[in-house]
Amino acid sequence: MPIRHVGRRRRHFRRTAARDRVTLPPPPAPIHAMASPLHPVSGRARSAGACAAAASRRGWRGLLARLLPRRGAAEAGGAAGGVTLVGAGPGDPGLLTLRGLRALERADVVLYDRLVGPGILALARADALRVEVGKRVGGDHHATQARIHALMLEHARAGRRVVRLKGGDPFVFGRGGEELEFLRAHGIAYEVVPGVTAALACAAYAGVPLTHREHAQSLRLVTAHCKDSLDTLDWRALAQERQTLAVYMGVAALDGLQRRLIEHGRDPATPFALVENGSRPQQRVVAGTLAQLAERARAHAVRAPALLIVGEVAALAGTLHWFGAAPLGEPARGEPDRLAKAA
Ligand SMILES: C[S@@+](CC[C@H](N)C(=O)[O-])C[C@H]1O[C@@H](n2cnc3c(N)ncnc32)[C@H](O)[C@@H]1O
Repeated sequence: MPIRHVGRRRRHFRRTAARDRVTLPPPPAPIHAMASPLHPVSGRARSAGACAAAASRRGWRGLLARLLPRRGAAEAGGAAGGVTLVGAGPGDPGLLTLRGLRALERADVVLYDRLVGPGILALARADALRVEVGKRVGGDHHATQARIHALMLEHARAGRRVVRLKGGDPFVFGRGGEELEFLRAHGIAYEVVPGVTAALACAAYAGVPLTHREHAQSLRLVTAHCKDSLDTLDWRALAQERQTLAVYMGVAALDGLQRRLIEHGRDPATPFALVENGSRPQQRVVAGTLAQLAERARAHAVRAPALLIVGEVAALAGTLHWFGAAPLGEPARGEPDRLAKAA
């Protein structure tokens, strides 16, 4: 390589390292060094500056390897058991984070939700105990949650590393907060690894930008599975224009959602995209206008898990889709909309 190129590369690397010294966050403490009743933060926590220095000495690969706890690291330190809440993402195993992967590789026990696919479970150690703890439609959710708590407690107290593996992100409609409150109350060490939540993944895999300078300046994540009833939601606020709604657990409530949004002023011509099995090979997207929502979903027999996107941005699925088939109910590029006519 000519000498002047080498000089340019060195200058570029120095500039990058200097920038990173300012912006790089300190690494989260590993589970055996967390601030908790059991594990006060140890003096081994490194500063952002030290991380950047390490980056320039070892390069990013080396830095990554140092930041991510290694398999067996805690066992070597003789640490007590603990629980890591891991967000598995929406289904595509490629959306699991590196930190989530490392936690899975270290886990002795994996307590996983029904929506977590086999591709992600396969990433756990072959000898790890895998227990399905998912909630079922019509099942006793209270009893299931109590069982999850009991299993986390039993295995962590026995000194095992437990991964509580949840679909999407543990803190977005995932009862992750309740599980942490329980662990904290019982003095069990824990940490949380975020995951890609369904709204982000479904939108991305359907070609729907959730915000767009021309169409939507805000985004609301809403659940249609309310503790009491849909009426507890602020429908006037939800019906406002220039915002995108991402509705979780909405398949059984589409008639009510459609009616309330229109009653509270949302234009019946507002586009929607309903993403079923987002990011998985069997993904389907049903699209149309708010006035057609419930009818279209029925015509295409949409089933959970599905995420509803309401807002002007949803119309972009028709042109920006890239994963799987074109949206049902939208004309595929250059073709007549046969399905919309049939619906
Ligand atoms: C109990 S909530 C869990 C949400 C999860 N914690 C998250 O962050 O995505 C389950 C709901 O998430 C949505 N969901 C999860 N995975 C999905 C997927 N692959 N495709 C479409 N919707 C999904 C559906 O609305 C489903 O009913």
